[in-house]
Amino acid sequence: MKPLIIANWKMNFTLDEALNFIEQLPNSDDNADLMIAPPLAFLSHLKHQFSALEFIAQDVSIQSGNGSFTGENSAKLIASCGVKYSILGHSERRINFHETNHTIRRKVKNCMQAGITPIICVGETLEARKNNNYQEYILEQIRESIPEECKECIIAYEPVWAIGTGITPTNEEISKIAKLIKENSASTALAKRARLVYGGSASGKNCREILEIEHISGLLIGSSSLDIEEFKKILNV
Ligand code: PGA
Repeated sequence: MKPLIIANWKMNFTLDEALNFIEQLPNSDDNADLMIAPPLAFLSHLKHQFSALEFIAQDVSIQSGNGSFTGENSAKLIASCGVKYSILGHSERRINFHETNHTIRRKVKNCMQAGITPIICVGETLEARKNNNYQEYILEQIRESIPEECKECIIAYEPVWAIGTGITPTNEEISKIAKLIKENSASTALAKRARLVYGGSASGKNCREILEIEHISGLLIGSSSLDIEEFKKILNV
């Protein structure tokens, strides 16, 4: 199976910069399945202009359907633009916008109703890791964030302390968590069969070895997805 490479642009790029970046991407998708999560402001524009590419959302509102929620974008509205996937529960949302597992659970339900497959981020904070209870922390994130009715999702393991820091866990550490999610009896049936990707300072240098880890079938890339030369190295894995 080709690796799944998810570019999370976060709140970066103007529309012109995004167009310029995409025009430099290689045409062929022989080496990887690519998804790009651009800012919502121009997601629809990019989708129309580059219909062969899979543009996805970085988040959806906790509110569902339609309503008087100025500034919000529900899963239903996002799906109406042809979007099929959304990142949910990224640690930047958990930390900066106080999202809890229960918030994310509601968002997963909104995605399910709208026909969007959620990409659910889990991963321990440095504090949880230091307390040595991080394995239970991650399993709890999975159990609490993903409702039982959810039949399909992608899970992204993103240790918070590795995001944007240039520090990555060792391959053994990633492997330990991959096994925890995919094999441990305290994990869920959905998590065991879901596609698992790794995120946190993944780059052109380390992508190849991370993708060789058992159970890891893709990468969620932040900073390295903003630099075309670096990103091309990742796509050529
Ligand atoms: P990073 O971000 O690659 O810059 O560490 C990953 C992410 O936030 O998903």
